[in-house]
Amino acid sequence: MAPTTNEQTILEHDLKDFKTLEQYIIEQQDRFPHSTGAFSRLLRDISLAAKIVNRDMRRAGLVDVHGTTGETNVQGEVQQKMDALAHKEFVLALRRGGECCLIGSEEHAEAIPLSTNGEGDGKYIVLLDPLDGSSNIDVNVSVGTIFSIYRLPDGHDKDKPKVEAALQPGTEQVAAGYVVYGSSTMLVYTTGAGVNGFTLDPSIGEFLLSHPNIRTPARGRVFSINSGYYHSFADGLCAYLDWLQEEDADSGRPCKMRYIGSFVSDFHRNLLKGGIYMYPATQSSPEGKLRLMYEANPMAFIAEQAGGAATDGHTRILEKTPEKLHQRTPLFIGSREMVEQAEAFLQGTAVSE
Ligand code: AHG
Ligand code: MN
Ligand code: MN
Repeated sequence: MAPTTNEQTILEHDLKDFKTLEQYIIEQQDRFPHSTGAFSRLLRDISLAAKIVNRDMRRAGLVDVHGTTGETNVQGEVQQKMDALAHKEFVLALRRGGECCLIGSEEHAEAIPLSTNGEGDGKYIVLLDPLDGSSNIDVNVSVGTIFSIYRLPDGHDKDKPKVEAALQPGTEQVAAGYVVYGSSTMLVYTTGAGVNGFTLDPSIGEFLLSHPNIRTPARGRVFSINSGYYHSFADGLCAYLDWLQEEDADSGRPCKMRYIGSFVSDFHRNLLKGGIYMYPATQSSPEGKLRLMYEANPMAFIAEQAGGAATDGHTRILEKTPEKLHQRTPLFIGSREMVEQAEAFLQGTAVSE
């Protein structure tokens, strides 16, 4: 019997020549003749942990990973069971892999030194938000993982790394990425030569290159902010939000408001479609909510590599000097023209179009 149109589509899909993440990483590695493969192995370890977190998340309603651990993390925020599990799985994968000597995680107050036991080179530092948007898990809304990778700087001992080794500005990142556990699971990362996205094919357990060389539109139609805090925003920000909502067909306003409450998911949508994500300072959180080292910096690196921008309202995120591991920062990130416009409103220099 001849295949139906639907079957035909599926067959054609299967025949598409997808590259696996592993193949892609090795190809990139081969471009550098002196490469030892350590960085490739580090990415493999991260992608393995992501697959394990993904597996656990997909069964979240069936096994006991919903709800809180009853603990609060270093930020004073309620820790979800999946926060703790994801943290454990990433630490385990990185410890086993041996290429990472120091981990900074949202779910652990201190930086975690890893003994490499001679297994790997241990020359990388990984900063992590193991599970972003975790309050959304119990209600089946997309969540994510964010990671940022640095080299251990000269003068630091890989067997006794101190937290100071991790406190490097975002411009020093060797790579950064995120995983979005959404309607499909995607891993998106950059090493400073563009941004590539890989979709997990659950039937073969491989991330496949589905979104090569992601570019974000210079301007989008979406803004993402928790406007429930409107009355505690700075005047300049309120003026920007009002402006975004004014009718002006020529400049594509009013813009649409979309806010999932998972930074990774909001960022991912805006990256692909164009838009701006904002988590500003508020009266009760003068430094904003998001963390510089494992939320703002990695996403800023990705945004810039895709043609976008990221600022705290005054300073380019990647140029901020970190003082502590869990430091917070206000964040305006996404399409370049929208971020510039937000910055101009915040600084009182905006010229309305
Ligand atoms: P995390 O779950 O890692 O603590 O991050 C939560 C963050 C971020 O994902 C989201 O955009 C933001 O918190 C939402 O905060 P509000 O509820 O204050 O809007
Ligand atoms: Mn987060
Ligand atoms: Mn988190």
